[in-house]
Amino acid sequence: MNKMQLTICDGTEKNMRKYINENFKHILHGGDYNPDQWLDQPDILAEDMRLMKLADCNEMTVGIFSWAALEPEEGRFDFSWLDKVMDDIYRNGGRVILATPSGARPAWLAQKYPEVMRVDESGNRIFFGARHNHCYTSPVYRQKVAIINRKLAERYKDHPALIAWHISNEYNGECHCEYCKAAFREWLRKKYGTLDELNHQWWTAFWSHTYTDWEQIDPPSWRGDRSVHGRNLDWKRFVTDQTADFMKHECDSVKSMTPNIPTTTNLMCFYPGLDYRVIAKYIDFISLDNYPDWHGDDSDIERSAKNGLINDLMRSLKHKPFVLMECTTSCVNWHSFNKLKRPGVHNLFALQTIAHGSDSVLCFQWRKSRGGSEKLHGALVDHEGSENTRVFREVRALGARLKKLDEIVGTVTESMVAILYDWSNHWALNDARGFCNVDKKMMWALEQVYRALWNKGIDVDIISSEDDFAGYSFIIDPMQYMVSDELGKKMGEYVENGGALLCTYMTGMVSENDLCHLGGFPGCGLRKVFGIWNEEIDTLYPEDSNEVLLADGTTVKAIDYCELIHTEGAKVLGIYNSDFYKGMPAVTVNSYGKGKAYYIAFRENDGYIEKLIDEVLKERGIVSAFDGELPYGVTVHSRTDGETLFVFVENHTAQPQSLKTELAWTNVENGEPVIGSIQLDKRDVIVLKRNL
Ligand code: GLA
Ligand code: ZN
Repeated sequence: MNKMQLTICDGTEKNMRKYINENFKHILHGGDYNPDQWLDQPDILAEDMRLMKLADCNEMTVGIFSWAALEPEEGRFDFSWLDKVMDDIYRNGGRVILATPSGARPAWLAQKYPEVMRVDESGNRIFFGARHNHCYTSPVYRQKVAIINRKLAERYKDHPALIAWHISNEYNGECHCEYCKAAFREWLRKKYGTLDELNHQWWTAFWSHTYTDWEQIDPPSWRGDRSVHGRNLDWKRFVTDQTADFMKHECDSVKSMTPNIPTTTNLMCFYPGLDYRVIAKYIDFISLDNYPDWHGDDSDIERSAKNGLINDLMRSLKHKPFVLMECTTSCVNWHSFNKLKRPGVHNLFALQTIAHGSDSVLCFQWRKSRGGSEKLHGALVDHEGSENTRVFREVRALGARLKKLDEIVGTVTESMVAILYDWSNHWALNDARGFCNVDKKMMWALEQVYRALWNKGIDVDIISSEDDFAGYSFIIDPMQYMVSDELGKKMGEYVENGGALLCTYMTGMVSENDLCHLGGFPGCGLRKVFGIWNEEIDTLYPEDSNEVLLADGTTVKAIDYCELIHTEGAKVLGIYNSDFYKGMPAVTVNSYGKGKAYYIAFRENDGYIEKLIDEVLKERGIVSAFDGELPYGVTVHSRTDGETLFVFVENHTAQPQSLKTELAWTNVENGEPVIGSIQLDKRDVIVLKRNL
């Protein structure tokens, strides 16, 4: 049973669609367009319009780095070129996602107001240039950004081409200027109230770090100190909040004039520098920039699964469709080796992204620039300039397909399973001095459990500890090192009320401020929930291993981490088979209230966790939205509006595949019935539907 079937049995929810923009219900196809680089070549700009139509592009993202063209001198604005671009795109049947230009500033601004440039952690102010390097706190920068943003909103508020605001570009990084330091201290005062409380939560008695004056507190820096983990964590949280505050300031400046135009900013997958859950709160929809390092063979299957995880995170940030804002049609220019996307890979990647909840396929960049560091980056239109390129032909074929997917727009995904991922947890875990200091491999652990679901074609949400757990039958929470009292209670209640919870080694060791829990791991009541006590963790050398003997007599190789746990009511599913902890439990399950709590105390890479996940899925009756058997590399994801179920069957292998089904489907693209079997070309996706 999947959640949709449950909802339908309840006979309630219908019309579940959530649109990016109610006035344009099409899959967006297009990308970053930089006409301001070609203003002296009107023939090129005219050709752009012809080619856009040819490739069925209906969207252009404009103005991301256009500040110098829009405000060539302080207070002198020039919108004439943008007026024409907006009009031309609209006349061509397209729409515009218009950017605020704060991602890079004009030279005059940095020259006149040096404070807009960041100070790095050694205390040096950086020079003008590059991009994404402004101070988020600087009052002058905020003021200048608000002015240009308001001018843009004022000018285009009624323009029929405008469908969304692209706020800045890929917010990232941090600043150590005096403004930012003062804001950090203020943030800490608000959080802790008193220095005593801060000293306690940061455990500053360690190495005599006790603070007696707020002014003594600096951000972490290699010139100073990084040993106060609570401070490291709070600095990261502060950077997120300060960035979000800057972004909110930008959003407010356009929203005041265009309340109905949605805002977004483009996120970089699992970017570790910002907690995207906080950023997501202040924008209307999520946008993703995604550039996997494709190889063009079956080794891409794992990359595809990683991609699925990224897409599911993006959809889950707001539990609604998102926009793929950037990808490349061919190669990028910043990987170590910039291999071309093989024929068909762009098509597969694009449709995969839609399968997971994107309502767009937008690329960086429309046309290759002539100069600058991105002139060799892939684009829809090459320096050659015509439609007669392999890439353009592929994009054109994709554009023709996307036109036939209007029915998908706005549909949502209903998952019975969730994986829990918290940025703070990942930060604290990576910061911990202990276990394996080379790499804690949190992403690896996340991808491992994700793959188990991807292989089976099970829809999954990537949630945070703040999400509502109630709608999920099964929550998988790998390496949840940081557990607050609140989260511990929530996990306990979830299981008590009937949920299945699977946790791993390193669960529940520290509080939300990175203080170790006292009274035995896992803390915050989880010892009772899992029915175990975790006494010690053995970190193995890469060449070491242990063996776990499972209840059915089979064995599995334990690597990296083996926890020495004791049962306190849990049932043992496997024990260690060697070393001084031979015979101790390695995997357990505890019935708690109406639910079950599973604990895997060791790491493995032989498919055991996948088997355990399969068993839980079976026990809970959680199935894929597609009934047929899925060969390795073929997966399925679904979207729905509450009445129709749309199923994307994705072939991530480099061979054609044939699948069986006993259900009656319709092919969304051509309206033809699909009965009995499905033929999939290599690296292709078929979109099916049936009534619920
Ligand atoms: C990022 C940026 C774009 C461009 C691309 C290149 O995603 O947002 O401006 O630099 O990378 O891949
Ligand atoms: Zn600053």
